[in-house]
Amino acid sequence: MKTVTCIAPVNIAVIKYWGKRDEDLILPINDSLSSTLSTDYMCSKTTIMVSPTFKENRFWLNNKEVTFDSERLNNCLNEVKRRASPTCGELLQWKLHICSENNFPTAAGLASSAAGYACLVYALAALYRVEGDISGIARRGSGSACRSIYGGWVRWNKGTLPSGEDSIATQVAPASHWPEMRIIVLVVSDDKKKTSSTSGMKRSVETSEFLKDRAEKVVPRRTDEMIEAIKSKNFEAFAQLTMQDSNQFHSVCLDTYPPCFYMNDVSRAIIEMVHAYNEYKGSNKVAYTFDAGPNACLYLLEDHVEEIVALINEIFPPLAVDATEYFRGYPIHVNSSKLQEVLQLKKHTPGCLKYIIQTKVGDGPSILSNSSEHLLTENGLPKK
Ligand code: DP6
Repeated sequence: MKTVTCIAPVNIAVIKYWGKRDEDLILPINDSLSSTLSTDYMCSKTTIMVSPTFKENRFWLNNKEVTFDSERLNNCLNEVKRRASPTCGELLQWKLHICSENNFPTAAGLASSAAGYACLVYALAALYRVEGDISGIARRGSGSACRSIYGGWVRWNKGTLPSGEDSIATQVAPASHWPEMRIIVLVVSDDKKKTSSTSGMKRSVETSEFLKDRAEKVVPRRTDEMIEAIKSKNFEAFAQLTMQDSNQFHSVCLDTYPPCFYMNDVSRAIIEMVHAYNEYKGSNKVAYTFDAGPNACLYLLEDHVEEIVALINEIFPPLAVDATEYFRGYPIHVNSSKLQEVLQLKKHTPGCLKYIIQTKVGDGPSILSNSSEHLLTENGLPKK
């Protein structure tokens, strides 16, 4: 019997991946770039156990047993086994029990599949002692998962080979490079999204002409500019590129036929607030980015956290009085603000935001070696 437990981070793209050139191998039509978020407050955790006594492969996801027949799951498993160390021997024949959970909303546009597949592949690779890059294996689970294999600022190189061998992630800069960077996640809704990223981007590839232009012309230039902004810690340029890329991604969604709507009125009010604040400050102090859902991720430097949170609190007052439930992640000190009046922004009805998470850029996946961390009992059944 052998057991491995891992945690893996979420990543938030500042240059978005949207569109595949190969659906089965999950090969993208453009490069993308993200930061990996600290696992302190948002992460996936996975325990994998192999034993000669297990009769069949079993999988528990977020406290529910699910079938083991997902093609993506099996693609990852087969690929890890193909690259397994020759010393694994009969371990490769034993059946697996896998238990995985996220400590944040699944499928609400918060990159849960990225953290989940990165965690699964990292744990499998540790179990079967795979050497070398494993981001290309995580990619087979979910494209964006390949970026969660590394910490800091990560680029997913689209690659050119039909085999996909060169479609892997590489680190652009470690988390320690820009320690003042903060990410504030504004959870507008934790419901499951209507159109998944997978089907949304497929439809965009089939119907949006604008997407071709984006992939061929805009993203290559923007990726270079983004790397330069990150390397030189130029927040002004970083923020502009981040916001423009998010907006372009959502315009591709609108150009898709029938269109995909991921943002809602609250998302748009957040965009308005950020631009009003930046204009008031005379330069970009905050950047927003939205994935395939209404939740906003704000990138900002630590000096501006208090002021922007005070403003958010004025414009989007919380429903709950329990601040520990509402403000999550790294502690946030909430002041009162007069900015809302100065900026002439509309106050929304309480409860538009479900909660707020403050986090940082962090490291890649890691193994938890203490057995108290395992999600499975010694018999291979979920502890919960
Ligand atoms: C909008 O990686 O979830 O978050 O490869 O089909 O699993 P599949 O899609 P997925 O798409 C993520 C899209 C995005 C942008 C990004 O993270 O780059």
